[in-house]
Amino acid sequence: MSNQNTSTIIVTGGAGYIGSHTIIELLQQTDYNIVSIDNFSNSNAATFERIEKITGKQVKNLNVDICNLEALELAIAKVKNPIGIIHFAAFKSVPQSVADPLLYYHNNLGSLVNILKICKQLKISNFIFSSSCSVYGNVEKLPVTEETPFSPAESPYGQSKQMGEDIVLNYTKSVSDFKAVLLRYFNPVGAHPTGFNGEFPRGRPDNLVPYITQTAAGILQKLTVFGDNYDTRDGSCIRDYIHVSDIADAHVKALNYLIENKQKKASTVFNLGTGNGVSVLEAIHSFEKVAEKKLNYEIGPRRAGDVISIYANNDLVKKELNWSPKYNLDEMMLSAWKWQLHLGEK
Ligand code: UD1
Repeated sequence: MSNQNTSTIIVTGGAGYIGSHTIIELLQQTDYNIVSIDNFSNSNAATFERIEKITGKQVKNLNVDICNLEALELAIAKVKNPIGIIHFAAFKSVPQSVADPLLYYHNNLGSLVNILKICKQLKISNFIFSSSCSVYGNVEKLPVTEETPFSPAESPYGQSKQMGEDIVLNYTKSVSDFKAVLLRYFNPVGAHPTGFNGEFPRGRPDNLVPYITQTAAGILQKLTVFGDNYDTRDGSCIRDYIHVSDIADAHVKALNYLIENKQKKASTVFNLGTGNGVSVLEAIHSFEKVAEKKLNYEIGPRRAGDVISIYANNDLVKKELNWSPKYNLDEMMLSAWKWQLHLGEK
């Protein structure tokens, strides 16, 4: 446990899905002051009540649009002794990015540039960037390692993460007192084991697991499996689903790694996945097993922007951060279902 309790870690997107779970782990595993920046454009202020319920601690949130540099500067000027930023705030829907690419370039890249400007102005030298396995595109060889070259991104969302990585890496090279960890998340799913915090999609979810739980809860009528004629073992797409609390724990370890100067280079990229490829149909069957419920689903056409198959080689993150995933697929599905039951069935 750290004793630097006068130092502050800024978490952008702190009310979001991964941001809120990371704040919970930071509050439980470290002594840092935590300040969130979130304008609730795709999240909910009630998340901070959930964090308090789980941790017993209140988190201060600055309600600012990170794309507005002036407002951001004014808000952050009040933060005492900021030593690190974990930058989650971004839009993350593949289909939405296909429909509205400019929104993704503006929001995901504009906010990143502003946050790095803040790092420069305030000499904040520890930075963690939320990247995604979508940077790899469709690759020939699986599992992907951090050295796997990028194929063209399949969606503007994926491209915004490829460009975001370049921005962070180039900025890191341009200054001497800045260190960054870039975490490429595979497919974060599940909810806090207490069942009191989880993904809170606005409107109809785009991601598989909240779609499954809302269908099982009777909120949505039917899940469509996007394609069963891919070249995979059962024809549906393969992903590396990883429990959100495992992702959150990796952020705490990455932060300590930066602050304790364990990093050999100014910037390090890590894959954050379990290493297991799971098909959409396997994910559905795992859910049906743990929830003891039949899911109403049908096979539909392919979805634009989907990669066929991707899962991680996670050797590097295990070795360097001494991290390993704790939860298996059934536990991910059960926690997601527990959260859905907490939110309510129809
Ligand atoms: C993508 C990114 C991931 C990122 C996530 C954020 C890739 C490979 N991964 O995940 O890094 O964290 O966006 O949103 O780009 N599916 C259905 N029916 C549905 C919904 C989804 O069959 O109603 C299928 C999809 O076709 C896909 C799988 O379920 O094969 C997972 O989809 P989703 O949860 O949306 O995540 P990705 O698009 O894989």
